[in-house]
Amino acid sequence: MRIPLVAGNWKMNGDKAMAKQLCHTIADGIAELDSLDVVICPPYTLLTTVEAALSTSSIVLGAQDVDVHHDGAFTGQISVSMLHDSGCRYVILGHSERRTLYGESDSLVADKIRTVLSAELSPILCVGETLEERQSGLTDQVVHRQIEAVIDQNGIEAFERTLIAYEPVWAIGTGLTATPDQAQQMHQSIRQQLAGSNERIADRCRILYGGSMKPNNAKTLISQPDVDGGLIGGASLDTADFLAICQAARQA
Ligand code: PGA
Repeated sequence: MRIPLVAGNWKMNGDKAMAKQLCHTIADGIAELDSLDVVICPPYTLLTTVEAALSTSSIVLGAQDVDVHHDGAFTGQISVSMLHDSGCRYVILGHSERRTLYGESDSLVADKIRTVLSAELSPILCVGETLEERQSGLTDQVVHRQIEAVIDQNGIEAFERTLIAYEPVWAIGTGLTATPDQAQQMHQSIRQQLAGSNERIADRCRILYGGSMKPNNAKTLISQPDVDGGLIGGASLDTADFLAICQAARQA
């Protein structure tokens, strides 16, 4: 039995006032939702504000990325022990914006997974194909390659703690969403890939969908047998939308 998880990825948005208000409202709205995990991933500068705002709620804190090194002369970077110290429990890794805008390779993302696991935080590994790759029939190949890099470098045991977010690049921030069938097909294919190495781990691993998930499509997506929740970008900045998605995940 996999408990659904909804994670909000604020990206480079928000300030202290917005963070406090949004977190307090969401914490109140979610108070009576059991059997649902909720994670909020604000920008680094808001981690302590969000942690304080969520201190009496069951919502947990996550970060959007981390450096691969543990400490040292890496000006401008943030380490996993800093995230741990700030109260983070989850770290998004390999988001398509990191891969495309900042050139992160499969291998770097796999190394970052090891760094995050070493601090006993849970990585949320983002994978997904571009529109061109989908149209060329390469979806499975691309997504499996992104996951294989993690298995090769860290072993299948990495997925005891690592969640996967399947985020078709063409659906992120575009208002286009994978159909429930497209999502289920890919999620099932990911689970089968994991099962090829370890069936127990595959069965327990939570696979989230991301890419324009909104209140009007969340329930049908999360109702698919292999869709275990959502990674929410735009809609996580809107209290009513985020709460509605959490509600939908609870009911799915
Ligand atoms: P979106 O973003 O919900 O705005 O499409 C999802 C993501 O980038 O994780």
